[in-house]
Amino acid sequence: MASLNQKDLLGIAQLSVEEINLILDTAEALRQVADRPIKKVPTLRGKTVINLFFEPSTRTRSSFELAERRLSADILNFAVSTSSVSKGETLLDTARNLESMAPDVIVVRHSSAGAPHMLGRVCRSSIINAGDGMHEHPTQALLDALTIRQVKGRLEGLKIAIIGDIAHSRVARSDTILFHKAGSQVWVCGPPTLIPWDFDKLGARITGHIEEAIESADVIMMLRVQHERQNEAFFPSTREYYNFYGLTRERMRMARKDTIVMHPGPINRGVEIDSDVADAPYSVILDQVANGVAARMAVLYLLSGNAGLKPRKLAR
Ligand code: CP
Repeated sequence: MASLNQKDLLGIAQLSVEEINLILDTAEALRQVADRPIKKVPTLRGKTVINLFFEPSTRTRSSFELAERRLSADILNFAVSTSSVSKGETLLDTARNLESMAPDVIVVRHSSAGAPHMLGRVCRSSIINAGDGMHEHPTQALLDALTIRQVKGRLEGLKIAIIGDIAHSRVARSDTILFHKAGSQVWVCGPPTLIPWDFDKLGARITGHIEEAIESADVIMMLRVQHERQNEAFFPSTREYYNFYGLTRERMRMARKDTIVMHPGPINRGVEIDSDVADAPYSVILDQVANGVAARMAVLYLLSGNAGLKPRKLAR
């Protein structure tokens, strides 16, 4: 049985290229479960998965749950709002109490960067990071890579432009690390106030001009402005943001004919992307969502026997 040989999936930074390819190949194989009349395989029968989401989610939460059901796992969807978290119980105590019920995997989304890493150190269960603050969203990067590989046949040598609120985006970080490891040429673009200038250390080229990012790009990945993570104004107005950084049909005329458009969602139509573009034939946004189930099935499968392993030392 193929395995990732590590207890947790905390970030893309900790994965080698070989491990990324193993996950993508496994996801490709598991994708066909969705086309069967009975969308279920017995792979995780007898395993228990807890979904612990401290932040809202549509795509990640639903696709983890579908992935777990399609693999025949037993599932507990922990309802944070009606739990004792509202009485002041800490994340650590919550996790320790849930852990004592012997789950094999805990999927966690939290607003604090590093929350899944802390659980990884104290829990015997495998921890999967479903998004931690502004840090990483590793399964999103895996499903994005899977989608690009399906359409373009490879990641190596592609120009991938990530455009928008880079500073507050965990997707931008995980995508940049993965695409750079896979040999893509990554460009990040946005208002200077929304680009951490150390992104070049992750292997990205930085530009403030959307035209430069779009020119000859194979892939354009648009990102939402994350107002919920901002406590100051990073640009004068939404209208001005749209004028400088919105992906419009006019701007798409500057792109190559075979350029694809992606977005991790949720979309703010008319802010970072026009409806004409989001719904165009070159948009693969809903393919990303479909691939989210397969990518998460692959991660669950490859980690499912690893509870109890020593946590892997994290890459800096
Ligand atoms: N892409 C993503 O993480 O979407 P959700 O917040 O809906 O899970």
